[in-house]
Amino acid sequence: MTDESKGPAPGEDIVRWVYSSTSPAQLAARYDFWAANYELDTERDYGRNDPKMTVPLVQKYVPQGARILDAGVGTGLVGQLMADAGYDDLTGIDISTEMMAEARQKGVYGDLRRMVLGETLDFETDAFDAVTCVGVLTFGHAPASSLNEFVRVTKPGGHVIYTVRPDVRETGGFIEIEDELTKDGLWKLVEKTDEFPSLPKGLPESMLRVWVFEVTG
Ligand SMILES: C[S@@+](CC[C@H](N)C(=O)[O-])C[C@H]1O[C@@H](n2cnc3c(N)ncnc32)[C@H](O)[C@@H]1O
Repeated sequence: MTDESKGPAPGEDIVRWVYSSTSPAQLAARYDFWAANYELDTERDYGRNDPKMTVPLVQKYVPQGARILDAGVGTGLVGQLMADAGYDDLTGIDISTEMMAEARQKGVYGDLRRMVLGETLDFETDAFDAVTCVGVLTFGHAPASSLNEFVRVTKPGGHVIYTVRPDVRETGGFIEIEDELTKDGLWKLVEKTDEFPSLPKGLPESMLRVWVFEVTG
């Protein structure tokens, strides 16, 4: 048990508490604390909708039967929606074991493992047909370098589908890595959504886009 097990200070907003983590260990501990209430809190207080905005793009580009890595699986909201849409070969990874424990209860992931985005992933090259990453490439969470690993573990012809805030994309090194992967012929952009508020109830100013890249090399 760390001090994080006490949760935020009385009156402190839990999202701000989690997002103010200053190290991967602290972030994992804070998500561990939040895991049991994460879905209730985010739905009730924020009306979170980025999983719902992302899965139709999975359906558009990724065939049934595909082997999909859900990176930063959390409590498995994206996997549940993908399973509802007929996808049945889902692997999840996350830095927080308690978030993954919640995801495990959904019974939709064949494999769930603790891994840290930003580090080399413990998967073979070309292991997956697609990678999804929703609500994870953001401040204090997973860095832009995660994209290089998404491309490595995705087969040519497969897709990398992720959300990122426009401001984080600009300031967090995402544009540079996206452009480098494009210049190196490793992927190409196939679709990006318009900006939409991801937390319309609680933080309406927090905009996101979903990005879809096809892996080409
Ligand atoms: C906002 S939640 C989103 C969860 C899920 N994708 C969804 O859409 O509901 C962010 C998740 O990313 C995980 N996470 C944050 N940074 C990470 C990292 N560097 N490596 C792996 N997981 C990370 C957190 O533990 C948390 O479960």
